[in-house]
Amino acid sequence: MPVARLVGTGSYVPSRVLTNAELEKMVETSDEWIRTRTGIQERYIAAEQEATSDLAMRAARQALEMAQLDPAELDMIVVATITPDMIFPSAACFVQEGLGAKRAGALDIAAACSGFVYGLAVADGLLRTGTIRTLLLLGAETLSRIVNWQDRNTCVLFGDGAGALVLRASEGERGILATSLRSDGSKGPILMLPGGGSRHPNSQAVLDAKMNTIQMAGGNEVFKLAVRAMEEASLTVLKQAGVDIKDVGLVITHQANLRIIGALGQRLGLPEEKIYHNIQRVGNTSAASIPLALDEAVRAGRVKEGDLLLFAAFGGGLTWGAALVRF
Ligand code: ACO
Repeated sequence: MPVARLVGTGSYVPSRVLTNAELEKMVETSDEWIRTRTGIQERYIAAEQEATSDLAMRAARQALEMAQLDPAELDMIVVATITPDMIFPSAACFVQEGLGAKRAGALDIAAACSGFVYGLAVADGLLRTGTIRTLLLLGAETLSRIVNWQDRNTCVLFGDGAGALVLRASEGERGILATSLRSDGSKGPILMLPGGGSRHPNSQAVLDAKMNTIQMAGGNEVFKLAVRAMEEASLTVLKQAGVDIKDVGLVITHQANLRIIGALGQRLGLPEEKIYHNIQRVGNTSAASIPLALDEAVRAGRVKEGDLLLFAAFGGGLTWGAALVRF
């Protein structure tokens, strides 16, 4: 059975930087509060004319270049996002058109901050069937469009960006080794965007109640659940693959909070140098956060051919999961 090998990475962040100092002027907060509670110092915000697929395409072109693959050779495009350009067509269809990926299928995945790990599992399944040989997986978000800029509980956390990964069905040992996906819909209400769908279609009342923006009830609960869930998913994939955590070269988790990442590292007994983080500069970019960090790590020489990588994520839904990969 073929293995889904990672053959190219890419990333893109918009040019506009929003600092904590600027947020101090927008809501009652402080640089000190944001830095000590979350680790975030600044984040990127998409320009008015930039939609999610625009960010995704910039990241995709880099990944395709690294993979030395022409877009016309792609069999499938998967975009993990909760901020697609429109309800439909999917963001993946806009990417397909923009890249000129003439023979690719296109599909969006909505698993919030876990979207990229969900995408890896979907990519793994499709590539193993042998009917799909090349797949472009993107995590891309313009969260700035769905943030309530008057809500200090959430507006300081999020940023925009995109990360890309090209995967190819290959022989051998390198590729996706194990994935684990979980969810718990009963806890959905702690993190949601309730408006604009079929439950609460767009209306003046929905807009007035800010139901078209991210609502988070209990950041503290999200914090604790995130650490526990990512630990459990990480241990599951390590066990599935028969790998000891000591043999993992680099761990890249969803970048939601530096303290969440630190607590997970402690529970897994990981030395600091094995945990990659860039949340300080990019904030929480939801489905984009792992592929953005992965591309940075690859280009910085932190990831070598044959290294074992562990990805873990947690997000709205609730959803969570992990993936173990040999790069
Ligand atoms: N500036 C100043 N004060 C603030 C701010 C802010 N931006 N936001 C909240 N506060 C206040 C609250 O109103 C509250 O005040 P109160 O005690 O008077 O009611 C207080 O700070 C809460 O403080 P703490 O309990 O110390 O906050 P905590 O250490 O839990 O940190 C945080 C809060 C950052 C939200 C943390 O719980 C967290 O990161 N949780 C994860 C949430 C998350 O990442 N959600 C994103 C989506 S899911 C995902 O990506 C995993």
